Amino acid sequence: MKHRISILGSTGSIGTQTLEVVRDHPQDFEVVGLSARHNKDLLAAQIHEFKPRIASLECGVALPGLPNGCRMAGAGSEGLCEVATHPQADTVVVATVGAAGLIPTLAALRAGKRIALANKEVLVMGGEILMGEARRLNRPILPIDSEHSAILQCLQGENLRRIRRIVITASGGPFREWPRERIESACPADALNHPTWSMGKKITIDSATLMNKGLEVIEAHHLFGLPVDRIDVVIHPQSIVHSMVEFADGAVMAQMGLPDMKIPIQFALSFPDRFPRRDPPLDLPALGSLTFAAPDLERFPCLAMAREACRLGGGYPAVLSVANEEAVAAFLAERIRFGDISRLIEAELEAFSNPSALDFETILEIERRTRESVRARARG
Ligand SMILES: NC(=O)c1ccc[n+]([C@@H]2O[C@H](COP(=O)([O-])OP(=O)(O)OC[C@H]3O[C@@H](n4cnc5c(N)ncnc54)[C@H](OP(=O)(O)O)[C@@H]3O)[C@@H](O)[C@H]2O)c1
Repeated sequence: MKHRISILGSTGSIGTQTLEVVRDHPQDFEVVGLSARHNKDLLAAQIHEFKPRIASLECGVALPGLPNGCRMAGAGSEGLCEVATHPQADTVVVATVGAAGLIPTLAALRAGKRIALANKEVLVMGGEILMGEARRLNRPILPIDSEHSAILQCLQGENLRRIRRIVITASGGPFREWPRERIESACPADALNHPTWSMGKKITIDSATLMNKGLEVIEAHHLFGLPVDRIDVVIHPQSIVHSMVEFADGAVMAQMGLPDMKIPIQFALSFPDRFPRRDPPLDLPALGSLTFAAPDLERFPCLAMAREACRLGGGYPAVLSVANEEAVAAFLAERIRFGDISRLIEAELEAFSNPSALDFETILEIERRTRESVRARARG
C-alpha cells in the first residue's frame, strides 16, 4: 500500500527534496496535501505535477485553475492545519521553518498522523507536550534532521537503557576557522555560504552561529529522552559521520553517508523499511580522512546558551528559539550585526523566568511576547 503524505512547507529546501523522493518512488508514495507561505508559482507547479487533494498558501492568495479533486484550504495557520489533518493522509512531513509548524504538528498528531519532522524548532518549543501526545496516542515522531536520523538508525535493535551518551556532529559552518572579531561583523553573504549543505536561509544562518547544533541538542533531548549532559557535540567538517551513540560497554555506533538530505527524508518516510536509492556510493578512499574537534563555545556562544536553556527547561527553550528566529530575520534584513544575534538571545533569556506550569497556550504567549521584545531591542 502507498504511503499517503502531506507536506507542510513543500516549496522549501526539505519540501522540494521530499518531492524528489516521491518522484523517485511513485509506486510507494502518494501526495495528499501541499502547502507554502507565499511561493504561489512553485506551489502551483507542484499541484499540477502531484495532484494533491488539498493545498494551502499561508498568505491566502487564491490559485486559479486547480486540477479536478484538489481544493485550496484557508490562509494562515488554519490552512496548514487543514492540510496536516486531511483524512486521506497517513504521514505529515513538517518542513516549515521556525514556530510556524507548532500548531499544525499538534493538530496532525491528534488526528492520528505519523509525523516526519524537519522543523526542529517545533520540538524545541513544545517538546514535552508533543512527545507526551505522541506517546499517549501511540504515534511516532520520526526525525528528518540527518543527525537525529543517524541516532535513530544507530538505536535500531538496541536496549535504550544502555545508552551512555549521544554525540551529534556539526560541520562547524562557514566561520569554523574565523577569529572572533571577524565573525562579529560577518555579512549575510558570508554567513549564507555553507561549506557542505545547501539549505534554507534560516538554518544556514543557524549553522553559522552553531545555534543549529544547540537546537539539535534540545531536539535530541526530547526525541531520545536523555538529559542534556549526556548529549555532546563534536565538529566534523566533512559531514560524513552524521552522529553517534556510545553505549554502556564503550562501543560507539556511527551512521555515515554522503551529505544528502534525501537519504534521511526517505528513511523517515519508509521507516522501519529502507527503500533503494541510486546515488553514487560513499567513496571513503576519495575522502581520505575524517576529522573531529571540540566546538569553541567562546566564538560560538549560541551553542552554550541552547544547552543552558535545555537544562533550565520549561519556557526557556521556546524563548531561545523564538528570539533566535527574530534575530536571524533582523540579521538577514541587515538591521543588526552577526554578533548581535547571540546578544539579543542572551538578553531575552536573562529577562525571562519560568511560569509555574507550561501548557500550549503559555508557549504561544511566550512566542508572542518574545517576538515583540526582540523586535523592539533590534530597533533600539
Ligand atoms: N534544509 C535542510 O537541509 C534542513 C536540514 C535539517 C533540518 N532542516 C529544518 O527543516 C526546516 C525547513 O528548513 P528549509 O531549509 O527547508 O527551509 P526553507 O527552505 O526556508 O523552506 C521553508 C518552507 O516552509 C514554508 N513556510 C515558511 N514559513 C511558513 C509559514 N509561516 N506558514 C506556512 N509555510 C511556511 C516556506 O514557504 P515559501 O517557500 O512560500 O516561503 C517553505 O515552503 C527548518 O526547521 C530547518 O531547521 C532543514
